[in-house]
Amino acid sequence: MTEAVSEDEGAVPDVRRRDFLNIAAVTFAGVGAGAVVIPLVNQMNPSADVLAEASIDVDISAIESGQSIKTSWRKQPVFIRNLTAKEIAEANKVPMSELRDPETLADRTKPGKENWLVTLGVCTHLGCVPLGAAEGEDKGPYGGYFCPCHGSAYDTAARIRKGPAPLNLVVPPYEFGTDTKVTIG
Ligand code: FES
Repeated sequence: MTEAVSEDEGAVPDVRRRDFLNIAAVTFAGVGAGAVVIPLVNQMNPSADVLAEASIDVDISAIESGQSIKTSWRKQPVFIRNLTAKEIAEANKVPMSELRDPETLADRTKPGKENWLVTLGVCTHLGCVPLGAAEGEDKGPYGGYFCPCHGSAYDTAARIRKGPAPLNLVVPPYEFGTDTKVTIG
């Protein structure tokens, strides 16, 4: 004669089996997440050539007032411009209320070195390289830089003044090592 199993007696093993299955699933998920995270972390580590370009030193001694140079940092173009007194005055007289991305020239330069404007040469609309850094290039209606792709115009502090770009040209991290050497990055 088969012994009847009460409901209570039958419930205990069921619960334990479910617990085991849940624990097994969680443990598997944990291992799975670990296995995915490690390659992602490895991918985020900078490669040797990126580390080598983490910062660059630029000799600015030959850039005369009114001239600019183009260089490159982390595979992005960088403009370094030696602003004239007139260009500085033009930037400083613009009311903040007229700016789409309000920043003063002082905000975008180093104290005592307002004439040195260091920016990425990357339009903040869709990333074209604006004109205006090389000799004879179109500086646009505000005398700074002009993006030929869709007509964004930047002023002498490289602030966006007209066209579809939403933001000023980005000022990268940089320091003056000496009066004639800038370290970018
Ligand atoms: S990318 Fe410069 S205006 Fe569009």
